[in-house]
Amino acid sequence: MPATPAPSTPSHPGHRTTARPTAPAPALDDATLRARARAALTTARDRTRVLTDCLDDAGLTAQHSPLMSPLVWDLAHIANQEDLWLLREADGRPGVRPDLDPVYDAFRTPRADRPALPMLPPDAARRYAAEVRAQALEVLERAPLDGDGLTGAAFVFGMVAQHEQQHDETMLATHQLRRGPAVLHAPAPPAAPTGRPLPAEVLVPGGPFTMGTDTDPWALDNERGAHRVDVPAFWLDTTPVTCAAYTEFIDAGGYDDPRWWHPEGWEYVRGAGIGAPLFWRREGAGWVRRRFGTVEPVRPEQPVLHVSWYEADAFARWAGRRLPTEAEWEKAARHDPATGRSRRHPWGDAAPGPEHANLGQRHLEPAPAGAYPAGAAPSGARQLLGDVWEWTASDFTAYPGFTAHPYDEYSKVFFGPDHKVLRGGSFGTDPVACRGTFRNWDYPVRRQIFAGFRTARDASAAEGGRA
Ligand code: AVJ
Ligand code: FE
Repeated sequence: MPATPAPSTPSHPGHRTTARPTAPAPALDDATLRARARAALTTARDRTRVLTDCLDDAGLTAQHSPLMSPLVWDLAHIANQEDLWLLREADGRPGVRPDLDPVYDAFRTPRADRPALPMLPPDAARRYAAEVRAQALEVLERAPLDGDGLTGAAFVFGMVAQHEQQHDETMLATHQLRRGPAVLHAPAPPAAPTGRPLPAEVLVPGGPFTMGTDTDPWALDNERGAHRVDVPAFWLDTTPVTCAAYTEFIDAGGYDDPRWWHPEGWEYVRGAGIGAPLFWRREGAGWVRRRFGTVEPVRPEQPVLHVSWYEADAFARWAGRRLPTEAEWEKAARHDPATGRSRRHPWGDAAPGPEHANLGQRHLEPAPAGAYPAGAAPSGARQLLGDVWEWTASDFTAYPGFTAHPYDEYSKVFFGPDHKVLRGGSFGTDPVACRGTFRNWDYPVRRQIFAGFRTARDASAAEGGRA
């Protein structure tokens, strides 16, 4: 609420020395960039309201699972990050409520302990978010979009919009954990095309490709920079593993046979008594699942959802296969053998539309395996983006030349063997936080996220033509 116009340079010089670690964005004109940033912020806020206006105060302040924050914490944390990055760091304003930083610092208080925090009640949290947003839009009107500072190419606005959308996906997972009648509704996703069945797997030819990016203006620090990686030829499942295939693994006694399991995974499923994906329950001869407050039969044709990395890894071993590495996944999703270029998405550089992928909470479940033919990659692989996050074999590690930007706690503190990488986004991921380079990560035991997987195997030398 500064009465005077905001200064146009940040008051925290320390952050200005953190230049964006990659080349400047391809020239998008100033008005286009501002309009994109405004639209991304508005889309995120509309979704945040959908996720929070549907519950009463008790539903917003309750902790629905020790794995998650109360929804009202996410709401004010979204506002607090925007207060910090757009008002204070980017524009040098005093900010709306810097005194709240400790309450909404994700590193100070683990999710399980957040109910004890002196949180803003729902109405105050909504007012806080609205006040910060009103000022953030003023900042966006005047911020310099040239140069390599935080506002260059509108990066920090894109970062804040992606942050809000990531918390919206987290809030959607909280809704899925919540007990009680359905409050969220959406139409069913599109069916898979009928006709000739798809091949079970596709060949991705061997050879180097460009992983990561130097040019995507809103890419986050862990996606940068572009580097060549030689990936030998491999076969990849055409679609994510379905509930039908996963049920075969269960029926074959997959959860009871230590041969398929990573030792830690075996200990985990035995100790926790896990024998099926989270939210599944046996009913008669078949399976039902709880989905956003409704119990319904498991749909065999849908990608399996709510499995841990350990379960994905065990299934793959049972099937005589393995999880793809992160580099294999990205090559399948981005490499265009016709030009040798890495593209933004499996279908090309065009922004994701409803014909390409199941993204953005347009639907509240994955589409059947084989849907979205317009989103296929050059190899023929489908649904690499959207539907379900896909566990990869890889630990979350830094790319060559990694620079934390703009803060260590976005990515850097998570690098190492504790976290596995997920790729591709789910039906609950907004397009602004989804692309061929985007990296997500989590502990290998986590199952409440919207995660499934697909499997891979090495190709023989004869199959492995270079491309
Ligand atoms: C990238 C989804 C693992 O939710 O912990 C949100 C995103 N970072 N606030 C997370 C994030 C800071 C992050 N993930
Ligand atoms: Fe956050």
